[in-house]
Amino acid sequence: MDLQVRKPTPEDKLRINEIIEEEGSMYGWKPKSDEQLILVGNDLKSDISDIIGAVTYKINPLDIFIGGINIRKKYQGKKYGNLLIDALVKLAKDLGIKEIKLYVAGGASNEQAIHFYEKYGFFLDRNHPEIEHLAIEKLKDFLINENPELYTEDVPENVIDDYLVSSEETLDDWIEEAINDWYPMKLII
Ligand SMILES: CC(C)(COP(=O)(O)OP(=O)(O)OC[C@H]1O[C@@H](n2cnc3c(N)ncnc32)[C@H](O)[C@@H]1OP(=O)(O)O)[C@@H](O)C(=O)NCCC(=O)NCCS
Repeated sequence: MDLQVRKPTPEDKLRINEIIEEEGSMYGWKPKSDEQLILVGNDLKSDISDIIGAVTYKINPLDIFIGGINIRKKYQGKKYGNLLIDALVKLAKDLGIKEIKLYVAGGASNEQAIHFYEKYGFFLDRNHPEIEHLAIEKLKDFLINENPELYTEDVPENVIDDYLVSSEETLDDWIEEAINDWYPMKLII
């Protein structure tokens, strides 16, 4: 099989929509912008080409953020995912960017994806700058659910402090939960 990573053409985008209809919505297949790369395989014997997987990403000043990556089920386990990450590493190097970041879809329970990223060299980013904010948002959602008659959209800061004192929970406990939910990982190039 001849493999190629490239930007999708308009025809590829039509095919991607068909794949989504046939196989269900997948991370990395419906990009918000055109920051997407696809992996295409061409069977040299039959000359039939097929889209194997896709990654969506965003180029930030200091990092490339992976929005989603997906290898179609029938092609998983053949190390094809590495080729999409290789292409992003090359892009980062060309731009002088030193980090690739992501949140694992499904969080800590997506063991297959975490194993894949770890094999590549990504590691859990416990000091991710957004994680404390995500933990506070999770705690706020919890308090809103517990007290729908008191709070609707926002929860005052003193209520959060009072809750933490009375429940004997700490912000670190909630940060741990947010890490499990979001599982931020990064690769240093
Ligand atoms: C995560 C993903 C991109 C990895 O791509 P890939 O090309 O399949 O990666 P690999 O071939 O290196 O396999 C990675 C691991 O997945 C597991 N795996 C792959 N195919 C599998 C299958 N059919 N059944 C069970 N486990 C499988 C194996 O544990 C493998 O590790 P190993 O090589 O040490 O045995 C791909 O599995 C995928 O698209 N998953 C679904 C979407 C997803 O979770 N995306 C990540 C969102 S952030």
